[in-house]
Amino acid sequence: MTSVRLIGIGKRYPNGFEAVQNLDLEVQSGEFIALVGPSGCGKSTTLRMIAGLEDISSGELLIDDERANEKAPKDRGVAMVFQSYALYPHMSVRENIAFALKLQKMPQVEIDQRVEAVAKKLQIFPLLDRKPKEMSGGQRQRVAMARAIARQPKIFLFDEPLSNLDAQLRAEMRVEITKLQNELKTTSFYVTHDQVEAMTLADRVVLLKSGVVQQIGAPLELHDQPANRFVATFIGSPTMNMLRTELKLDGLQVCGVHLSLSTKRLEHIQAQGIKSGMPIDLGIRPHQMTLVALDEQSKLDEQSEQAQEQTATLANGIKVSLEAIEPLGSETICYCRPIVTADDQESSEQRLVVKLDADRKVERGQIYLLSFKEEHIHLFNADEEGVRLS
Ligand SMILES: Nc1ncnc2c1ncn2[C@@H]1O[C@H](COP(=O)(O)OP(=O)(O)OP(=O)(O)O)[C@@H](O)[C@H]1O
Ligand SMILES: [Mg+2]
Repeated sequence: MTSVRLIGIGKRYPNGFEAVQNLDLEVQSGEFIALVGPSGCGKSTTLRMIAGLEDISSGELLIDDERANEKAPKDRGVAMVFQSYALYPHMSVRENIAFALKLQKMPQVEIDQRVEAVAKKLQIFPLLDRKPKEMSGGQRQRVAMARAIARQPKIFLFDEPLSNLDAQLRAEMRVEITKLQNELKTTSFYVTHDQVEAMTLADRVVLLKSGVVQQIGAPLELHDQPANRFVATFIGSPTMNMLRTELKLDGLQVCGVHLSLSTKRLEHIQAQGIKSGMPIDLGIRPHQMTLVALDEQSKLDEQSEQAQEQTATLANGIKVSLEAIEPLGSETICYCRPIVTADDQESSEQRLVVKLDADRKVERGQIYLLSFKEEHIHLFNADEEGVRLS
């Protein structure tokens, strides 16, 4: 059982570029941490510093409460799995998996036992005598995993291990990694571009941007309570819609429509220094919006209050033109453009994505009222940082 602490870790490459800044992270024994963020944000650099493949420029790395900054990679008890597999091409699968164990001078009988046990676990036992070039990408990736597991490391480090596989194999391996993790309970760091992987595998997600941590938390925490606009739009697919609004005395003006806010919410926003007339960014996820046909809306108006309540807290909804439809089978993605007055240039350039149930019939080119509930909106400061307001 191994805990890991990163205290103010930074990396400045010899050319002066700061790839990671002041990273604080406390990882419990057995925890599975996903590192995510756009290309170049410092994910691999962080992993390589933990592995000892890259010097740490500032801060301290503790493995089991012991300073590890100066320890050689082989003394850190880590095993790394790469996207490129990095198998030795001239060795058989058996030799590849056994290689590190041989270096440790482990008795041959024990090596054979370990190699065979792990090969069975990862369903590559029949392939033990093949060379890497005689296998598919998915099989090679299993060998790379098996080689890491056979070493029984204190820490697993994965750098996009599944990104060379097709979607179906990735999904299969995801399930297997979850099973392995439940069984082995080895402290793990997993770098990925794929947010589904991060959300499904990780106990906690670390989201980086330009070498700086944006948020650390359980997957649903990042999804439901994003710390800033960047996290809000990075996590979730399709991406959260972001609308520029203006704060009014009792609500928000959004695409020419008034959205009333609860008193509690208004007070909370005002307490953070946002005054009437100032801009606020409103985030709303595509599956939390709905499109109401114009004639349906007038019928609803005639019906009970209850039906009205179901549509929205927007007085009338935002009038939109449905520009494109993607029927995906299990759901339908709709791309909409707000219809606003000619002087509201900013709103007319907005695009809004709505996710509807597949059985909902909509028609391209038609006008709809787009509505959503106040409880589903996220509000962010409209400045560059875009910190969450409420
Ligand atoms: N040896 C180096 N010298 C200078 N800069 C480097 C070096 N290695 C990486 N960088 C820079 O550091 C930043 C972080 O690189 P890193 O490889 O950690 O990104 P990443 O998050 O893993 O990206 P990707 O998702 O593309 O793999 C990048 O801007 C990269 O160009
Ligand atoms: Mg990388």
